[in-house]
Amino acid sequence: MSNRPELPPEIARRRTFAIISHPDAGKTTLTEKFLLFGGAIQMAGQVRAKGEARRTRSDFMQMEKDRGISVSASAMSFDYKTFRYNLVDTPGHSDFSEDTYRTLTAVDAAIMVIDGAKGVESQTQKLFEVCRLRDLPILTFCNKMDRESRDVFEIIDEIQENLAIDVSPASWPIGIGRDFLGAYDMLNDRLELMDRADRNKVAESIKLEGLDDPKLEEHIPEDLLAKLREEVEMARELLPAFDRQSFLEGHMTPIWFGSAINSFGVKELMDGIGNYGPEPQPANAAERQIAPDEKKVQGFVFKVQANMDPKHRDRVAFVRLISGHFERGMKLMHVRSKKPMAISSPVLFLAADRELADEAWGGDIIGIPNHGQLRIGDALTEGEMLHITGIPSFAPELLQAVRATDPMKGKHLEKALMQFAEEGAAKVFKPMIGSGFIVGVVGALQFEVLASRIELEYGIPVRFEPSQFTSARWVLGNGDAKEKLINANKQHMATDNDGDPVFLTRLQWDIDRVVRDYPEVTLSATKELM
Ligand code: G4P
Repeated sequence: MSNRPELPPEIARRRTFAIISHPDAGKTTLTEKFLLFGGAIQMAGQVRAKGEARRTRSDFMQMEKDRGISVSASAMSFDYKTFRYNLVDTPGHSDFSEDTYRTLTAVDAAIMVIDGAKGVESQTQKLFEVCRLRDLPILTFCNKMDRESRDVFEIIDEIQENLAIDVSPASWPIGIGRDFLGAYDMLNDRLELMDRADRNKVAESIKLEGLDDPKLEEHIPEDLLAKLREEVEMARELLPAFDRQSFLEGHMTPIWFGSAINSFGVKELMDGIGNYGPEPQPANAAERQIAPDEKKVQGFVFKVQANMDPKHRDRVAFVRLISGHFERGMKLMHVRSKKPMAISSPVLFLAADRELADEAWGGDIIGIPNHGQLRIGDALTEGEMLHITGIPSFAPELLQAVRATDPMKGKHLEKALMQFAEEGAAKVFKPMIGSGFIVGVVGALQFEVLASRIELEYGIPVRFEPSQFTSARWVLGNGDAKEKLINANKQHMATDNDGDPVFLTRLQWDIDRVVRDYPEVTLSATKELM
């Protein structure tokens, strides 16, 4: 079911998506089952086990584990039926919204997992809003139906009301909690029966001729069957039927009811993304739109992860390929530096292991180990000077001064800070007057994460202290007015890690004053990375 017939088949079969959810709704469990059915792991439980083995490598990761949050994102690829799925992991904590936003620029769709007993929770709502900024198509998985959960109509109503999106039931649960038997597949007219004895076993699937099919009576007790018939009839009357176009435009979400831990509903969900899409989508550059069916390889960096191996100081840039057929060893143009780059050891993320990629297609995510040349927002092309838009950097909401407890280590600290700034883990500002650095983050927890990473990865113990500033704005504009502003406000001025000027203050009044006095200049809370 292709809505882009011009796409090469290898690209048309790719589905690149993220999972958004509130902690504990079942994202990890669902991911495990995807990988299990995708043949990427032999047994469920390995994602967690591997995750933990990886985490114990550093105390920073230890901290992440202690707090039950996921700071680092990764990508996983697996095949199922005719499709290649690329699952990009979103950082789980609300403090890291900028990171999350950027991650979502690399996917074409999102799965929203909600807990059937809890409905739409705060973090789900926040992440949903981020998806909405990009009109991402969203598929919903209502999990834990094997437990006591809320009334199905109530759950659907809540999603429609809180998230202002049409909800169309793709399946309808039969029984709830202890009585949960399975679901009626409303899109394909099938009965899916959950196997409680084996959690990794796929449900038995029975083809039906509608809701009056006598086969239903063989499998479902009379009272539950009567309830199912009544509810499905009501659902068909009251709720919109699935409309693929509306789904692709982000106005409608199909919802499946299941139980990830019992592997129930997972395959139907995978079929849903596979069959309804979307396929790899175009990306916008300042110069033009880049379409996925273009022959040339084009992609952009949406995440940089530094020090995955502290011994080597390597970094991996995560690149979303937009178009083309990439082969290992290819030379690509690194647009920002205008220099060709031989991509000799790209990494594909098959399941939880890193593996060398021999080839990849538009829609895929590849990792490129590098020494710092690749930054978030950078474009890689076969020569064309394209600058990707829509990957913003947001002004930090919290600012603190940072100091090395050992003053001899000041120089090393600068290097460490620059590296984290390039990774996107924090904003680092160097004031024009005085010494030291001001670090800006979105959530307070990030200061702790940074302090522990700087100590662990660079051996520099640091202290974060209150700063005299509370807001940062990029100074945008050209020519004299900008120069004048900078010269007249030196005590407020700093530069970011790209050397761009930033206005720091603690008073909104200061911002208003500058806006009034320098109409040709803009004080911006965001900066496009390109
Ligand atoms: P998260 O990544 O979204 O935070 O959630 P995760 O998958 O870790 O699941 C959170 C808890 O919910 C886990 O229990 C998990 O086993 C359970 N869970 C996931 N899916 C289902 C389901 O379909 N039904 C039921 N009943 N439970 C489910 P835990 O006790 O926190 O962890 P564990 O001891 O099972 O590992």
